[in-house]
Amino acid sequence: MTRIAIFASGGGSNAEAIINHFKDVDSITVSLIVTNKSDAGIIKRANNHGIPFLVITKSELKNQDFLLTKLKGDKIDFIVLAGFLLLIPSYLVEAYPQKIVNIHPALLPAYGGKGMYGMNVHRAVKENEEEMSGMTIHYVNQAYDEGKHIFQASIKIDATDTAEEIAGKVLKLEHKYYSKVIDYLLKS
Ligand code: GAR
Repeated sequence: MTRIAIFASGGGSNAEAIINHFKDVDSITVSLIVTNKSDAGIIKRANNHGIPFLVITKSELKNQDFLLTKLKGDKIDFIVLAGFLLLIPSYLVEAYPQKIVNIHPALLPAYGGKGMYGMNVHRAVKENEEEMSGMTIHYVNQAYDEGKHIFQASIKIDATDTAEEIAGKVLKLEHKYYSKVIDYLLKS
């Protein structure tokens, strides 16, 4: 059994799509949710699905003894970032080589880097009057949004779309593809 931990800081709609996808897959399971926000929507979703969750502080994330012991103790094989907004520390990247993936709500390398997350991305895309946006799934390395790309998909932006409407279109793509890409990676 391959055991996934999902790290999320927000509402957790991507996390939920992934949890639902792997409910129907015998060899892969989402076995832990990690969040840095004690009031994040993801906690309610974890509870609804009966999946254990761990709330960590910024310093616990940086604490190798604490977090690696927990992840290894839970036999976590693969880490999925789904709206997790803290930088992943080097020790974790080294402990899980090519086994941490992230989703970003834009066509990287455009609109990536520190401070470029969630609605900040979509507002910048709107301000620049882009005609396309999309999402990127990539491996995680020591820098924000710079790991090797795995998969991208795009959407067309209408001139009348608001930043919120762009966000909605991109989120739909994310829900459609993230779990499929993870499934593919874990089975190949
Ligand atoms: C998603 O759109 C994801 O791409 C983005 O946060 C949202 C989380 O939504 N991630 C980033 O911006 C990371 N740089 P969710 O909590 O509903 O899954």
